[in-house]
Amino acid sequence: MRAAVVDRYGTPDVVRISEVARPAARADEVLVRVKAVAVTSADSRIRGARFPTGFSLFARLAFGVLRPRRTILGSSFSGEVVAVGTRVRDVAPGDEVCGMTGLKLGAHAEYVAVPAKKLARKPSAVPHEDAAGLLFGGSTALFFLRDKASVGPGMSVLVNGASGAVGTTAVQLAKHFGATVTGVTSTANAGLVADLGAARVIDYTRTDLAGIADRFDVVLDAVGNLSIAAGRRLLNPQGVLLLAVAGLGDTVRARGDVVAGPAPERVEGFEFLLRLAAVGAITVVIDQVYPLQDIAEAHRRVDSGRKVGNIVVRP
Ligand SMILES: NC(=O)c1ccc[n+]([C@@H]2O[C@H](COP(=O)([O-])OP(=O)(O)OC[C@H]3O[C@@H](n4cnc5c(N)ncnc54)[C@H](OP(=O)(O)O)[C@@H]3O)[C@@H](O)[C@H]2O)c1
Repeated sequence: MRAAVVDRYGTPDVVRISEVARPAARADEVLVRVKAVAVTSADSRIRGARFPTGFSLFARLAFGVLRPRRTILGSSFSGEVVAVGTRVRDVAPGDEVCGMTGLKLGAHAEYVAVPAKKLARKPSAVPHEDAAGLLFGGSTALFFLRDKASVGPGMSVLVNGASGAVGTTAVQLAKHFGATVTGVTSTANAGLVADLGAARVIDYTRTDLAGIADRFDVVLDAVGNLSIAAGRRLLNPQGVLLLAVAGLGDTVRARGDVVAGPAPERVEGFEFLLRLAAVGAITVVIDQVYPLQDIAEAHRRVDSGRKVGNIVVRP
């Protein structure tokens, strides 16, 4: 099969298309023909060995000290089942499924083998591109807003980085849960963020967040430019600061009204998000869809830091 192989850390130029052996489904796994897969900020971080401050050593131990241990990146995928392992009962060839592959990665390829218990059924109303785009940022936003901050009716939520993969779903989820949303983005994306449901948009190129008088019940930072002290200054007395990006120091210090750390990949969360997308309660924002052979270009777009929503590749 064809796959995007990364055998050394570096710029998008290190990504090359190669013929590699097709994986086989183990007893509890499913072999999926990948129809769409996201190229995410996490793929870009791993490829470039650029990790949040203080995490380099841990990340290199996880992903490979001198070169990537998993040479095929990619996690958030959607596709069609082509084979199932001997112990798999409730999924059959032809089923449309989607999911995330966690630390195993491997989805920037024509086929990926995934444990059956990590898969969600893709609703027919959700295109493969949308499913692949939705899960990465969506499960992060869902974990922080619903599971950690219990966002609900009447609450005020600030989303910093409202036009990225995490931000575009965070704005919509917070609105869906009944909150009043303020989105922070640049001039070019202000209209989009308002369309996604933000009652107010702060253009960070014109307004310094540190200078605003408003206070919020929840602040979600999906950029990584808010320190704990700066984030806390934006909170109401009972407010919660959610750091989707944090260095090691802030991650260690996060407790009480500050939450940081990796969002889990839960099938329940995937199904929740897919149901919302299927009924149009969430729009999956897609910046661009690339064919697999142009995946280096997709990495370049992610590296720019300017992507709007999600980048998707079709193997
Ligand atoms: N904790 C977790 O489990 C977890 C999971 C997923 C992601 N993350 C982290 O969360 C971060 C966001 O991920 P992502 O995939 O959403 O990123 P992304 O899609 O690459 O973010 C790109 C967006 O960031 C916006 N942006 C850049 N600088 C900004 C600023 N100063 N203020 C406001 N917006 C700004 C850009 O908008 P403009 O062009 O308008 O500036 C662009 O639309 C990443 O650092 C990622 O590593 C953490």
